[in-house]
Amino acid sequence: MPPASPQDPPPEASYAQGFADRYDDWFAPARGTDATVAFLLSLAKEVPPGPLLELGIGTGRIALAVAAHGLTVHGIDSSPQMVAQLRAKPGGHDLPVDIGDFAAPPTEQEPGRYAVVYIANGTFAELTTQAEQLACFQHAAQRLLPGGLFVLDAHLPEALATVSGGTMPVNAPGPDFVLRTRSIHPVRQHYVSDYVILDDGRLRHVRVTFRYASPGELDLMAAAAGLRLRLRTGGWSGTTFKDSSRYHVSVYELPVQGG
Ligand SMILES: C[S@@+](CC[C@H](N)C(=O)[O-])C[C@H]1O[C@@H](n2cnc3c(N)ncnc32)[C@H](O)[C@@H]1O
Repeated sequence: MPPASPQDPPPEASYAQGFADRYDDWFAPARGTDATVAFLLSLAKEVPPGPLLELGIGTGRIALAVAAHGLTVHGIDSSPQMVAQLRAKPGGHDLPVDIGDFAAPPTEQEPGRYAVVYIANGTFAELTTQAEQLACFQHAAQRLLPGGLFVLDAHLPEALATVSGGTMPVNAPGPDFVLRTRSIHPVRQHYVSDYVILDDGRLRHVRVTFRYASPGELDLMAAAAGLRLRLRTGGWSGTTFKDSSRYHVSVYELPVQGG
């Protein structure tokens, strides 16, 4: 992270605590929910029957849409404020959600329970150390049924590096706008997104720190957790992963014993 200068106003509270009621407008991708849901529905057909688990379920943007197709979805999130938004939506009281850290070990009922564990919208990268990311892989693997899948999305580090320093509009809900600047910090493999938001005439500043990892590092963490890569696409729409991809969705499977 760049050293704070004495003139810098401190960023406001974390988006998940302070701005949960605005998350869907400000931070959720304007497009993309449908593609994510379709991708998950198609994966769910390829695995043994069982519930899905969303790590960082947030306001339920994805999980509620998946559940509307008749699948059982559970969630974990550390922010009661985000989960309160989910609860306020139609069907939001029907989803079992634990408040807690998704990198932590599974509860007593969870091992071997889920057909698909997924984590979307850059949320995996919100774990800012390698140790936390590895623990997340290991604990996701423990939660899976044999033959079950762990799915995550992530930026390609090379793509992050080329846009570092640029400022771009990311959302324009009504008369307000959201601008984002990204900086990259290789020493810790961090990238930092600073959002400046015009909210009803008032400027707000939200900072989120992420840890990037190459696909190769992710695959190694997966292998250490007993998972193997099944599929990597260039995004939730299922496009081919190629040299020009800026993003990827990686699907890991827990092999069936002897499989
Ligand atoms: C970027 S939001 C994504 C929400 C939702 N998955 C979506 O795509 O709309 C990330 C969510 O993960 C939660 N989160 C971040 N780190 C977490 C952790 N270590 N344990 C549990 N929840 C976490 C935040 O509270 C937030 O609700």
